[in-house]
Amino acid sequence: MSDSTLAHLLETRRVVLCVGCGGVGKTTVAASLALAAAQRGARVLCMTIDPAKRLANSLGLEQMTHEQVDVAPALLRAAGLEVSGRLTVMMLDTKRTFDELVQRYASSPAARDRILNNRLYQYVSTSLAGTQEYMAMEKLLGVLAEGAYDLVVLDTPPTSNALDFLDAPSRMVAALDSGAMRWFIQAFQSTGKLSFNLVTKSVSVILRGIGKLTGGGFLEQLAQFITELDDLFGGFKERATAVAAAFRSPDFGYVLVTSPEPSALREVQFFAQRLEEQGMRPDACVVNRVHQRPAARPSLPEIEQELSRAGLQLGPEAAPRLQQALEEELVLAGRDEQRLAELGPPLGRLPRTLIPALAADVHDLQALAGIAARLVAPGAARAAASS
Ligand SMILES: Nc1ncnc2c1ncn2[C@@H]1O[C@H](COP(=O)(O)OP(=O)(O)OP(=O)(O)O)[C@@H](O)[C@H]1O
Ligand SMILES: [Mg+2]
Repeated sequence: MSDSTLAHLLETRRVVLCVGCGGVGKTTVAASLALAAAQRGARVLCMTIDPAKRLANSLGLEQMTHEQVDVAPALLRAAGLEVSGRLTVMMLDTKRTFDELVQRYASSPAARDRILNNRLYQYVSTSLAGTQEYMAMEKLLGVLAEGAYDLVVLDTPPTSNALDFLDAPSRMVAALDSGAMRWFIQAFQSTGKLSFNLVTKSVSVILRGIGKLTGGGFLEQLAQFITELDDLFGGFKERATAVAAAFRSPDFGYVLVTSPEPSALREVQFFAQRLEEQGMRPDACVVNRVHQRPAARPSLPEIEQELSRAGLQLGPEAAPRLQQALEEELVLAGRDEQRLAELGPPLGRLPRTLIPALAADVHDLQALAGIAARLVAPGAARAAASS
């Protein structure tokens, strides 16, 4: 039987992005895909933006750093996993990536230090709209340029709106290079110092946009900072354009991750449309936490018989409760099937892989490997029509 769509993606792309709305299982799917590719012999980097703890725990790391850390082969062996490739993980550090960019693009060491030491830099480098997503993209391109991996699997940030990720380069540049900002710089440059008379409507717009920073010398700090960043504007703009273009390359694969919940499906559907409108083709859809149709529908006496055969003495209520639970699961499974069957294009026509809702969270290597196996099982992703 032929490889699944996802196995094919892992073999043919240099980057696979897992995108979807918050909490649906992006990190779990990203880590599982990375593990699957490593099991198939690839050198894989899994980049995550999440708070470290859960994924770090699954991978047996004390804590995940922004350094690239190999998952120890002994750990993989101890979990009974055959990994002929190499699995490396890292967590993205927005500020550090921004620092590296400033170091690379600043016109002189003095300009670099002035930017890095400006107290507003802390804010801009971590909190400006789109910075986190943009820096994820920057880091990704940096890693690709190093060429140490066959594949990078990128987990995307838990944004309230999945589209934030897509729009990050343009939002970053817009925030740094808005007309109001430009005006502000010119006004500052022409006087050489900042007069409070300059606090006109345009400036107050910037200040509102940039946050609730107040205090002595704030405007002067801001003006100096913007003037320094002006050095970098050309660099940033070009980079943002290059980053945006890279994300349309055929080397990039897009896996949409969702749950069968209507709100998640709606959002991921919208996201699939936006991807297509912007020249990026979603390749596959993973529906996580799907309720499974119970394999059988036993009668009450059959359940009672089974319980006594297993030597379980759970009281007279056990069998009817079990039967009720099975019936409820059947209803939930039917509801999920119905929702998925009704999905229109583009999501509806993507190859689709279903991952069942498991009884426990996915926190260890075996659980990740279980999901990995499902993701790449031959024929796992089927065209929507036949799933
Ligand atoms: N199929 C599943 N069955 C049971 N639990 C799951 C399943 N998939 C993921 N989980 C659990 O659900 C929680 C959320 O998953 P995960 O962190 O992967 O989501 P996410 O989309 O990355 O979230 P965020 O948007 O917050 O980053 C985790 O505790 C994870 O272990
Ligand atoms: Mg996550």
